[in-house]
Amino acid sequence: MRVGVLTGGGDCPGLNAVIRAVTKSLINHGQCEVLGIADGFEGLMGKKPHVKPLSWDEVSGILHLGGTILGTSNSANPLRDEATLEQVERNVRALGLDVVVVIGGDGTMSLAHGLRRIGLHCVGVPKTIDNDIANCERSFGFDTAVATVAESLRRIENTAMSHHRVMIVETMGRHAGWLALESGIAGAADIILLPEIDYDLQTIIKVCQKREQRQRYTIICIGEGAKESGQNLTVRERIEASPDPVRLGGVGHVLRERLQPHLKSEVRTTVLGHVQRGGDPTPFDRVLATQFGHHAAQLVLSGRLGHMVTLQNGRIGSVAIADVANTQRTVPLDSPLLTMARDIGICFGEA
Ligand code: F6P
Repeated sequence: MRVGVLTGGGDCPGLNAVIRAVTKSLINHGQCEVLGIADGFEGLMGKKPHVKPLSWDEVSGILHLGGTILGTSNSANPLRDEATLEQVERNVRALGLDVVVVIGGDGTMSLAHGLRRIGLHCVGVPKTIDNDIANCERSFGFDTAVATVAESLRRIENTAMSHHRVMIVETMGRHAGWLALESGIAGAADIILLPEIDYDLQTIIKVCQKREQRQRYTIICIGEGAKESGQNLTVRERIEASPDPVRLGGVGHVLRERLQPHLKSEVRTTVLGHVQRGGDPTPFDRVLATQFGHHAAQLVLSGRLGHMVTLQNGRIGSVAIADVANTQRTVPLDSPLLTMARDIGICFGEA
């Protein structure tokens, strides 16, 4: 059996751990040849496919490395037109690929689903620091990103206290607030603003003014997809060719401009950006990524193609890729985490 492996979409810590686990599990099985596909679906779209054999040695010593040894792309779209699709089909045939393990987010899963049209069978592995993939309560990469943001919040708090400032920290996460929520709790933010809850400016002003009298500093953790009630999303750029054309970013600066005129303290914004996607995966993410990679290999070997690995109620399982394509898992408004955070005084900007 010849199995391709690719990483698609934005990178995240733990991708190499999955590549290692899939490859070692398949090689150990004895009858599989594993090919690494370069730069996500891009590697299958050109006149000449970009692939390299993955041997045991090739994937050794990479468990703890951030990024992806295969490269990735979050703009490559093999479904963009018929000519591209035909080229992908020719490449898949020429390479003799029986199945491709696609490690990616919801965009990558949607593409994998669409590639059934040319008879390409895929097995999915969910990855993202956003933790927003349907049917998967924890994607690897998220724990590492939460640790990075929480650590940043602690550092920001030191300087906020010294200068008696309101400090806004903007996280990634797209339209899901998981990253802002969990890192905000872990990093002792006073106000957490999520895409799921439109915020009321007056509420935030009141909390900051009250804190100006007592603690004399405030930490606001805001997810990039959050917005003020009645206002639009803050879009950084659009990449039309991409399966996910809207790139968010800058909402922390928008909030600063709205807030500053109402406060005595200086308001500053830090946009954490891609620092959230890098770094060595935490031990939790290394274990989860290894479990996911191993399970993906089991799906390949047992012929359960068209499925994506999942984690539900603490157990590794799988679900049809069709069921997760084009869906997102956002923070439910009745989440116990929200209730707990409100009970300990964290403000979510609600009117
Ligand atoms: O989906 C992962 C993610 O890091 C999002 O949180 C963020 O909005 C996006 O990717 C950023 O993408 P890019 O690397 O293209 O700026």
